[in-house]
Amino acid sequence: METKASGPGTFAGFDLSRVPSPCFVVDEVAIRRNLTRLQDVGTRSGARILLALKAFSMWSLADLVGEHLYGTCASGLWEARLAREHYQGELTTYSPAYKAEDLPEILRLSDTVIFNSPDQIARFDSLITAARAGGEVFEIGLRINPEFSAAEVAKYDPGQTGSRLGFPVSQLKAEHLVGVDGLHVHALCEQSFEPLRQIWSSLEPKLAPLLGQLKWLNLGGGHHITRGDYEVEDLIRLVRQISERHGLQVYLEPGEAIALDAGILVGEILDLFDNGMAVGITDISATCHMPDVIEAPYRPALLNEVEGGVSVRLGGPSCLAGDIIGDYGFAAMPVPGQRIAFLDQAHYSMVKTNSFNGVPLPSIALWNSETDALRLVKQFDYTDFRDRLS
Ligand SMILES: Cc1ncc(COP(=O)(O)O)c(C=O)c1O
Repeated sequence: METKASGPGTFAGFDLSRVPSPCFVVDEVAIRRNLTRLQDVGTRSGARILLALKAFSMWSLADLVGEHLYGTCASGLWEARLAREHYQGELTTYSPAYKAEDLPEILRLSDTVIFNSPDQIARFDSLITAARAGGEVFEIGLRINPEFSAAEVAKYDPGQTGSRLGFPVSQLKAEHLVGVDGLHVHALCEQSFEPLRQIWSSLEPKLAPLLGQLKWLNLGGGHHITRGDYEVEDLIRLVRQISERHGLQVYLEPGEAIALDAGILVGEILDLFDNGMAVGITDISATCHMPDVIEAPYRPALLNEVEGGVSVRLGGPSCLAGDIIGDYGFAAMPVPGQRIAFLDQAHYSMVKTNSFNGVPLPSIALWNSETDALRLVKQFDYTDFRDRLS
């Protein structure tokens, strides 16, 4: 996959030696810029926009998120707890499957709980009834699989054959919607408006006879709304059309769009040598700190990369032979101790870090590119590594 980073932005002027290494640095001005754009879409379309915590749950910015968005969406009990502990607004929880022991708390914390199949809703009927009898107020949703593939790669395509994500729309009948308040569809990944239009064109005729009995439609995430070339006006028009035609409240739950181009991961060159090509080992590990580099896979953009410059293969300090970030051009051969930074690392990288090989976790810093104020909000040490093992 191609990185969708649009360039260094304000980070072009950030002095990388101001933070410990490695360190995520998030520009709160960039987060506000993205949130403002999303809020505008919400206001003009009528959509309620939720932050998908799975993509970006830097809760030191929770109040800022609360100023602009309608709420959050969680992927299970722990994100739901985080949402209620730190974030404001409405909370929707969706997980492909729930455990009976988790569900009562999820029903208590969430305004909406979305299930993956009508069977699961039926199986948990007694827990749902008991929660309501105990005074909990929540709505129930059903995730459907549009059976329409719009994502670039199968790994990010919930509509693929044999998908475990959502109830196939071809099997959906009115009887499955008894006790259901709304439908959820998530089938996009880093996409513009056109794939959403295509999915809705394919879904609308199939769903139209059933929508009258529902209150809302959640169109999931994967909308790259804050990317410069996203067709915001088309999205606004579609959301309004859905609401007016079917009498539905539309929800959108982007994650990446909130933190797009808003953070970098700063690291350091530890060693360099020649092995048929220049090889540099850094304190940033692809497998520990940017696992999507291997999983997606994609090549993250490097701050100040020089096209046609001295080419160096950069990789992490772990034992994994494939812990390779990519080959990058430098103005001159880098030296040990030299700082580097990868662009667009605020979303998904921070939430996915791990300490395989005992590789330290990156610190987290908050920067304001307007005032230049810099605050180190989190540092990890050996005990964080030790205490998740036994
Ligand atoms: C159900 C659901 N909602 C929302 C999102 C957020 O997507 P994105 O961060 O691409 O906007 C995801 C991402 O996988 C998802 O699975």
